[in-house]
Formats: sequence, structure tokens, C-alpha cells
Amino acid sequence: MKFFAVLALCVVGAIATPLTADQVNLVQSSWAQVKNNEVDILAAVFAAYPDIQARFPQFAGQDLAAVRGTAAFATQATRIVSFFSEVIALSGDSSNAAAVNSLVTRLGQDHQTRGVTRAQFNEFRAAFLAYLQANVSFGDNVAAAWNQALDNTYAIAFQTLTA
Ligand code: HEM
Repeated sequence: MKFFAVLALCVVGAIATPLTADQVNLVQSSWAQVKNNEVDILAAVFAAYPDIQARFPQFAGQDLAAVRGTAAFATQATRIVSFFSEVIALSGDSSNAAAVNSLVTRLGQDHQTRGVTRAQFNEFRAAFLAYLQANVSFGDNVAAAWNQALDNTYAIAFQTLTA
């Protein structure tokens, strides 16, 4: 019986390891160090994984050095970074869990519709973590906090991003 209850929770994705209060602080304080570097962050992702850039109709096939200075690039970079900021601001308070769940579920759905894959989300994650490692004080504790935060978020996104 217990097994089925656990299985059901896994299927609906309700099981996530919540961040400790310390981990929430580490994610929030390290994010504060880079959250205004929107253009830099998106440029680092595109440089590491050109297949991600190729998915954006407005940037596909163009030289990254040229597009990174455009208003369209700043707009998209701000969208992604603001999304992170919104989720990070909500984290740490379990009464916000439903709000986080619905935001991230929608993100997964929208990206599924655009043909984005889980593999690309994982590439994004790798480039994003590499950016953090290079630009914030990044000890093992910060790495563990971000990995747990991304595990939790991706578990929700991957329920609707199934490709
Ligand atoms: C990993 C590969 C990804 C690809 C290929 C991708 C691709 C796209 C594309 C093509 C758009 C539409 C742009 C437009 O029409 O102007 C978009 C919008 C957006 N993306 Fe992504 N994206 C990726 C990952 C992410 C991640 C990880 C986040 C956030 C954490 C994110 C957040 C957003 C947001 C907030 C928008 C604008 C709102 C919306 O239309 O959904 N994206 N993305």
C-alpha cells in the first residue's frame, strides 16, 4: 500500500526534496550576484550550445557576436532571467509550492509546443551552472543547493516537456 502511495506521488511529481533554509539562502544570494547579467547569461548558453540558439527564429543562423547586442536579444535574455528570479523569489516558502508548480508546468508546456527537448533543457542547465561557477562564489554547498533547486524545477517541467 505504502509502495503504491509512493509510486503515485512519484508519478504526479509531488516528491521533490525541498531545499533547506540554508540552501534557499545560498541560491538567493548567489543569484543576486548575477541576476542583472541577463545578456551575458543567454550569450553563454548560446555559445556553449548553438542548437539552443538555432531554436529561436529571431536568432537562428546568425552570428552570436552580432545578435547579442540587439534589443531582441536583451528582451529574450530578460524573459529567461526574470523567470528564474520569479521562481527563486517564491522558493523557500512551502505555501508558494502551487504557484511554482503552475509557473513551471506552463513553461514546460510552452516549450514542448515549440519543439524544445529535455536534452536541450539539460544542455541549458549545464551551461547555466558553468556560468554560475565562473561568476559567483561557488563552493560545494552552493553547487549542491543549485543542483537540488534545478532537480526540483526540472522534475516539474519534464512532466509537460516530454520530448
Ligand atoms: C533549453 C532550451 C530552450 C530553448 C531552445 C528555448 C526556446 C525558446 C523560444 C524559441 C522562445 C520563444 C521566443 C520568442 O518567440 O520570442 C522561448 C521563450 C521563453 N523561454 Fe525558452 N527556451 C529554452 C529554455 C528555457 C529555460 C530553461 C527557461 C527558463 C528557465 C526559458 C524561459 C523562457 C521564457 C520565460 C520565455 C518567454 C515566455 C514564453 O513565451 O514562454 N526557456 N524559449
